[in-house]
Amino acid sequence: MIRVDLPRFDRFEAWRDAARHLVGARIPPDRITWADPEAPADLFGSDPMPPAGDAKVKATKDYLTLARTVASHSDPERWSLIYAALWRAQSDRGFLDNPADPLMDRLNRLAKSVRRDIHKMHAFVRFHELPSDGPRRSFGAWFEPEHLILQAATPFFAKRFADMDWLIATPEGIARFTGDTIAYDPPAPRPDLPEDANHGLWQTYFANIFNPARIKTNAMRSEMPVKYWKNLPETHLIPQMLADAPRRVQAMRDAGASDAPAFAAKVTARIRQPAQDTPPETLAQAQDQAARCTRCELCHAATQTVWGQGDPDARLMLVGEAPGDQEDLSGRPFVGPAGQLLRQTMAQADIDPEKAWLTNAVKHFRFAPRGKRRMHQTPDRPHIEQCRWWLGIERGFVAPDLTVALGATAAFALTGDKTPLTPRRGKVQAGLDGGPVLITWHPSLILRLPDDRAAAARAELLEDLRQAGRMLAA
Ligand code: URA
Repeated sequence: MIRVDLPRFDRFEAWRDAARHLVGARIPPDRITWADPEAPADLFGSDPMPPAGDAKVKATKDYLTLARTVASHSDPERWSLIYAALWRAQSDRGFLDNPADPLMDRLNRLAKSVRRDIHKMHAFVRFHELPSDGPRRSFGAWFEPEHLILQAATPFFAKRFADMDWLIATPEGIARFTGDTIAYDPPAPRPDLPEDANHGLWQTYFANIFNPARIKTNAMRSEMPVKYWKNLPETHLIPQMLADAPRRVQAMRDAGASDAPAFAAKVTARIRQPAQDTPPETLAQAQDQAARCTRCELCHAATQTVWGQGDPDARLMLVGEAPGDQEDLSGRPFVGPAGQLLRQTMAQADIDPEKAWLTNAVKHFRFAPRGKRRMHQTPDRPHIEQCRWWLGIERGFVAPDLTVALGATAAFALTGDKTPLTPRRGKVQAGLDGGPVLITWHPSLILRLPDDRAAAARAELLEDLRQAGRMLAA
């Protein structure tokens, strides 16, 4: 037998180098013993490593990822299993892609257990603050994972707690982070970690999320398996909280419903009150009703309805798509970057925005949250169709002589025509209410175009606005 001794850390890399060498030398699995650091010496001695062979070793990327994960399992057989899979893959091409094969199935189950253990380690490591004489705070934790996951699980902590020094001690070894890289040391006896204020915080957090009226002990055990309990400060609270739950539930029942906070009435009015119960008699009434609009779901995430602005007797109305981020926050249309471009171009065309009516086809901001940013999304057809209600009312009160549709959404809202904009730009179409609608580009399109095309599109927007001015003068 050929014995391969694997190191405590970076053992997958060591296994991979040895496996590549042995497959290259055509050594079958049953001639190799893979030995972890604590494995006893071989009583019968072992064969020397063969010289490098000439066989080309084939392995897929997915297999290597799987083998790396399985290498963190505590099962002593894992090395021979991943070697056996690699060996078989040399003569059976599709083998690694067959999850139904018993060996692949076993490897996948081992990998799953490792991934779960890593997930639990990320969730259940509890740091204790340690004395520090440097500028960075220092923390230590003790954790007992089921598998040998120290190296696989700790990069997560380096990213998340990059601004503090920490060590995580486990029976497998110790990971130490001092701001740069993680160093790994062999195991040492469990350190005596001081109690600290963070543990009080964990307990407070846990006590607050514990709902005595919804106790599901099986779900709790599966989320927080018993084997991790002894190192979690919050679990000491569990028996008492469970014992206390019936009394707390009864107390909640006895107390009855609590009074809604003062702002609840305002929220309820916005969410529940039908906004268009009676037809508005003035533009101001229409604005007030629109502020409570719930005709589509956009009202829930948007800050407010952005109603039109300008001269209520304007002869010219400009209709955009929908408010953007800045419009949503300020409650006024066309105040963000696209609005500034529009206002500059209007000034060049000798149109005073204060003397026109600026509004949007859709009156709530539609966005997708990305991190802390709210990314604009074009409203869909149902949003436009629901909001036509308000656009119609607004147009009825302002009664402009001419309307400029800025972009495809406005053009569709005003004319019902969904065909491409390019051949329609610069032309006048009949609106759904019969009034003339001049079609042009949306300023935000111009902001998104590359410089050479943006200049041309901006010139067209200017030309169209000048045309609008001429039409009104005629
Ligand atoms: N884009 C629009 O269509 N309307 C605005 O109010 C702002 C940006």
